[in-house]
Amino acid sequence: DEADKGTYPFYMLKEVDEQPNVMRKLAQTYLSEHGVPQIDDKLIKAMEAADRLYIVGAGTSYHAGLVGKRLFEKLAHIPTEVHVSSEFAYEQPMLSEKPFFIFLTQSGETADSREVLVNVNDAGYPSLTITNVQNSTLSREATYTLLLHAGPEIAVASTKAYTAQIALEAILAKALGEVTGQIVAQDFNIRQQLGLVATGMQAIVDEKDTLEKIANDYLMQSNRAFYIGRGIDHAVSLEAALKLKEISYVQAEGFASGELKHGTIALIEKDTPVIGFITQAKTAGLTRSNLQETMARGAKTLTIVREGLAIDGDDLILPDVDEMLMPLLSVVPAQLLAYYTSLNKGLDVDKPRNLAKSVTVE
Ligand code: G6P
Repeated sequence: DEADKGTYPFYMLKEVDEQPNVMRKLAQTYLSEHGVPQIDDKLIKAMEAADRLYIVGAGTSYHAGLVGKRLFEKLAHIPTEVHVSSEFAYEQPMLSEKPFFIFLTQSGETADSREVLVNVNDAGYPSLTITNVQNSTLSREATYTLLLHAGPEIAVASTKAYTAQIALEAILAKALGEVTGQIVAQDFNIRQQLGLVATGMQAIVDEKDTLEKIANDYLMQSNRAFYIGRGIDHAVSLEAALKLKEISYVQAEGFASGELKHGTIALIEKDTPVIGFITQAKTAGLTRSNLQETMARGAKTLTIVREGLAIDGDDLILPDVDEMLMPLLSVVPAQLLAYYTSLNKGLDVDKPRNLAKSVTVE
């Protein structure tokens, strides 16, 4: 039974472990043997006709949208905005002439996101829902649907839905970019890359002991922590911080590493944990110096670095995949750090206080 915990103490750990298979499943479902995206032509045509994409979501799905923006802009060269659904619903930004809406929602039932879709439908704009639940409300009501095929996600803290959303956004961006003649999209060997991602994820989830030790030595003692990074690493830092907040109740902040010095660095004191994501060549040196700045103020820093950018003394080394897909790997240690912090505090990892798996009130 897919929804059975088996020998796992909590669903969250099972779902983290399932991620390599979810990557393979998405590649099988949406790519031909030769890596050609197999996406409904009508959907691609509707996206091609748009002058701007609007990604809408809540919580972790919103964070997957922040990564998706980079993928659509890089691979398909189409301007993309990302919005929190509860904000968009009541203060709609000025829209472009031909908007196309992408709803990211694991459950397909989030009321805030549905409220936006109702307005989008009233206005007659085309839309796509990317969801894990077939026949869910948002999947029924949008013009198009793509399924995440991640299997049931039971733990309140979303893990495999986030990585599935990003992988599917990458496939879609590749499909759209190919149709519109973008060389980067044509050159992007997504089938091979998703294979590398699956293997890389497996290597990370096989390092559970290391991650548990870091959680114990490093995060258990503190009720505050920072994840920092630039660009796509910043997007992941928001999700990493959310995981820690949700299940271990550590007050964690994801921050653009260059912005830290403009105020927030005042919060750094002796032994404040600051974790830096370094997966993008262009900004690696900058994030390293931002980490130094926090260290000089007493922070206990930790680096999560892509192998090709690693230097002596780095803490966690991630296998290399295309930089655009690094979020699929960098988020995994953060999921596990949150898991072990929660577990070793004796908390209910799967059912954190005050939270629900899907929020059907606005
Ligand atoms: C709730 C859950 C989050 C989730 C968010 C959006 O707040 O606790 O984990 O990210 O809803 O859910 P959705 O199903 O729309 O992705």
